[in-house]
Amino acid sequence: MTDSRRSAAAGTSTPLLQLDQVVKHFDGRRGKAPVRAVDGVSLTVGRGETVGLVGESGSGKSTLGRLALRLLEPTSGSVTFDGSDLSGVRRRDLARLRRRMQLVFQDPVSSFNPRMTIETILTEPMAVHDVGTSKSRAARCRELLDLVGLPSQALQRYPHQFSGGQAQRIGIARALTTDPEFIVCDEAVSALDVSVQAQILNLLREVQRELGLSYLFIGHDLNVVRYMSDRTCVMYLGQIVESGPSDDLMKTPLHPYSKALVDAVPTLDRRGELRAPLSGEIPSPTHPPAGCRFHTRCPRRFEPCDHVEPELIQLGDRSASCHLVSAARGIDS
Ligand SMILES: Nc1ncnc2c1ncn2[C@@H]1O[C@H](COP(=O)(O)OP(=O)(O)OP(=O)(O)O)[C@@H](O)[C@H]1O
Ligand SMILES: [Mg+2]
Repeated sequence: MTDSRRSAAAGTSTPLLQLDQVVKHFDGRRGKAPVRAVDGVSLTVGRGETVGLVGESGSGKSTLGRLALRLLEPTSGSVTFDGSDLSGVRRRDLARLRRRMQLVFQDPVSSFNPRMTIETILTEPMAVHDVGTSKSRAARCRELLDLVGLPSQALQRYPHQFSGGQAQRIGIARALTTDPEFIVCDEAVSALDVSVQAQILNLLREVQRELGLSYLFIGHDLNVVRYMSDRTCVMYLGQIVESGPSDDLMKTPLHPYSKALVDAVPTLDRRGELRAPLSGEIPSPTHPPAGCRFHTRCPRRFEPCDHVEPELIQLGDRSASCHLVSAARGIDS
């Protein structure tokens, strides 16, 4: 961590990123009901912390990641970065804040111009954000390539000349060009072979340590998310149904949905005797079920679940929204 960051982090207890009751509804096509992709999510990411986000396809993870970076505007709710409410800031200030947050995603090559050299690809974001001089930008490119474990000869090559793992190293280098503090990693290793995945995950952890970064780490492989994240949030149909320290959540999930996800993970001692995955498809986020959104697939549903929406119950450093949890705590629901 740089000295200025260390002192900035020491001098404040506010989280780096704070989402408060964030909602994102996409307009439905041809007058249809809106898609409730994110529906009232509150979340914080501390300085130097990694928060994991898991959930089935379509649960709203990428939408939430884009809201956190203000690449999407929320329908309602607020996104606060380092104390600044992103909806209230002026355009110029937003550009300055944007430089401090970046995205690393699954398929970096698709976003690279195939006719540009790696040097141009890496220099472009610095030029856009007016970082440094052309000479210092070139030096920074070499430094960043070294940091992500690629030789400087890579600068004169083109995107298609690299393997998937090397391309993701370049994707990470590009995200680092503006010296960000916060990075959303959206399925950053999902497309890679397992052995390459481990190298990229370790690279992400190394640069995090070195640069004092905070991550929102989106993934569908629970083992990967657990390895990377201090805390994990479980998302279902646009809402966070459980969150807590990653190890605790995955050892003793409180919400039946989290439990189903954990049970579906092949582990060494359980390999070969996988339990049946969740029955049925995730319902449409256009018309989410009444009551608890998970009740249509929940093996443990009981009387209140199909008509009373469960509250988020806080239990120390963990939280879950499920009537079973409320009932076990003797809370009326
Ligand atoms: N621009 C958009 N317009 C309309 N609907 C959208 C848009 N982007 C996402 N959605 C819808 O919002 C819901 C959440 O999508 P999102 O991509 O955030 O899910 P996800 O959890 O990232 O899924 P995956 O694991 O497949 O990446 C889906 O129903 C999706 O179809
Ligand atoms: Mg996604």
